[in-house]
Amino acid sequence: MKIREAITKIKAYQAGKPISEVKRELGLDDIIKLASNENPYGCSNLAKIAMKKAVEEINLYPDASNFELKKAIAEELGIKPSMIFCGTGSDLLIRVLCSIFIDAGDEIVMGDISFQRYEDSAKIMGGSVVKVKMKNHHLDVEGMVNAITDKTKIVWFATPNNPTGTIVKKDELLWAIDRIPKDVLIVIDEAYKEYVTDIDYPDSLPLLNNYSNIVILRTFSKAYGLAGLRLGYGIASEEITQYMNSVIGPFDTNLIAQEAGIAALKDKEFLKMIVTKNAEGREYYYKEFNRLGLEYIESQANFVMVNTGVNDIDVFNKLLRKGVIVRPGSLFDMPGWLRVTVGTEEQCERFVKSLEEVLKG
Ligand SMILES: Cc1ncc(COP(=O)(O)O)c(C=O)c1O
Repeated sequence: MKIREAITKIKAYQAGKPISEVKRELGLDDIIKLASNENPYGCSNLAKIAMKKAVEEINLYPDASNFELKKAIAEELGIKPSMIFCGTGSDLLIRVLCSIFIDAGDEIVMGDISFQRYEDSAKIMGGSVVKVKMKNHHLDVEGMVNAITDKTKIVWFATPNNPTGTIVKKDELLWAIDRIPKDVLIVIDEAYKEYVTDIDYPDSLPLLNNYSNIVILRTFSKAYGLAGLRLGYGIASEEITQYMNSVIGPFDTNLIAQEAGIAALKDKEFLKMIVTKNAEGREYYYKEFNRLGLEYIESQANFVMVNTGVNDIDVFNKLLRKGVIVRPGSLFDMPGWLRVTVGTEEQCERFVKSLEEVLKG
């Protein structure tokens, strides 16, 4: 048996601790999970109805072309369906992009505190990762452009960025894409796009008219509340879309996901409610962190990074024992910090109360 060398160097992704695991390990019943940036309000009722209906046809393979789902997304965005590819979460699409663009020895450029899966996916292909130091918790766009070499195949802009929650502003993005060579792929990962309230956030779609080296990634996992279903999509030139479709498996978007996605897009009220509640939740966190004298990063997503000023693993474990699951910053090379998802009002209050108790120790 001969495992490819690149694979031997990869560690499994450490996801947020599942509620069931904490129940088992700590014997607790009342647990809240604010660790994986999930939607605390569930998903749209229209999506639930569509999913139940789709169960009746679950003996059939899904439509391999995703015709109706692509049509629905295309109508929503005002673009051609031939510029859309779908898959089992944007996580899969990140891996497929790397499998198309990265050979052994190639490089990707990303922020040093950004989404881990860009690194893992490049390494699976034998690529290496150039990490550019963050600038005041923001992606250093200029530094990233300057880090491009002849070996660079992909530049990753997560905006809002996970875990910092900060965005790449319109003028920065335009500046960067003008300077990035045309044979380098620019991925704009907009997993948390719907939550953004900053007016300087760019509308990336029109950029596709002038730049054939851009891919935009989006997901139904966050604001649409369908993380467990695994549904993401990308938007790119027809040429890139064709390559993506030839690598993505024919049935990588399951039948229930296709129907739920179509229905979720129709439920504008749900999305509006989620975005409003999330913005209120962020403000609540800021107010409470100010009261507690804790440093935090203003976020455009559905999570906030807060600096506990002490050992984050210790705080994480103490919060766990109180039934509150968050993500310790050490995982992201931000020791002392915690990343906490914006939950319901009640969940946010419970987190703040628990954190206060832990820190007063
Ligand atoms: C920046 C970013 N991109 C992509 C993803 C992947 O999301 P999914 O695979 O659920 O679509 C995540 C998930 O946390 C993320 O934070």
